[in-house]
Amino acid sequence: MTLETAGFRTGADIFQQETLEMYGMVNKALKDMITIRFGEDVWEEVKQAAGVDIDMFLSNESYPDDVTYQLVGAASAALGKPAPELLEAFGVHWVLNTAREGYGDLMDAGGKTLDEFLINLPNFHTRVTLIFPYLQPPRFTCTDITKDQLRLHYYSSRAGLAPFVVGLLKGLGEMFATPVQIRHVAAKGDGADHDEFLVAWNQRPPA
Ligand code: HEM
Repeated sequence: MTLETAGFRTGADIFQQETLEMYGMVNKALKDMITIRFGEDVWEEVKQAAGVDIDMFLSNESYPDDVTYQLVGAASAALGKPAPELLEAFGVHWVLNTAREGYGDLMDAGGKTLDEFLINLPNFHTRVTLIFPYLQPPRFTCTDITKDQLRLHYYSSRAGLAPFVVGLLKGLGEMFATPVQIRHVAAKGDGADHDEFLVAWNQRPPA
């Protein structure tokens, strides 16, 4: 999939994203990641290039998806890094910083081990909806569950976010100190009905 087809461009007419909105906590987290990793100056440059004139994103306010896509597109251009690479890094940041630091109780309720958390993932955003009632979350299902692997199905009305999911899974692996292997085996961007990932974790030593 090209950056264009995923919607990461700076034009104003990203048709398929028109009706979707995201809570400001996403853009706020993106700002944090860019500022921490690349510095305040880079963030200012990204914001300007994206034509985003917002200094402070409010976590509980909704912003058009377009804002997030434009910021990612501008960051990709400013840093000379492909958007999927930035999205993957953002997924790791989201779990280890945004979610764990800001929503520790929610993350704790998701499970005590990586496999438990993944099996509970289909219900995760239901609890998030209690805090953010207008959430337009992705949908996950798990199939082919064995003791050390499962197939994660990811459904979204948004385009181009599979690398974000890969980063989230890597972040979860780190959070649970469990080595995780991820294979993206079906891609919506390549015409599949939805994205599928084979996620394998190392067996824990017997108790
Ligand atoms: C406490 C932790 C979490 C919170 C508060 C949270 C909240 C959110 C919010 C606010 C959005 C933007 C959508 C909107 O505003 O309508 C979002 C999107 C998303 N979340 Fe979560 N989330 C959390 C954890 C997770 C985890 C653990 C995963 C998966 C491993 C995940 C997967 C995603 C994905 C893939 C999207 C992109 C939207 C899409 O694909 O359509 N989230 N989440």
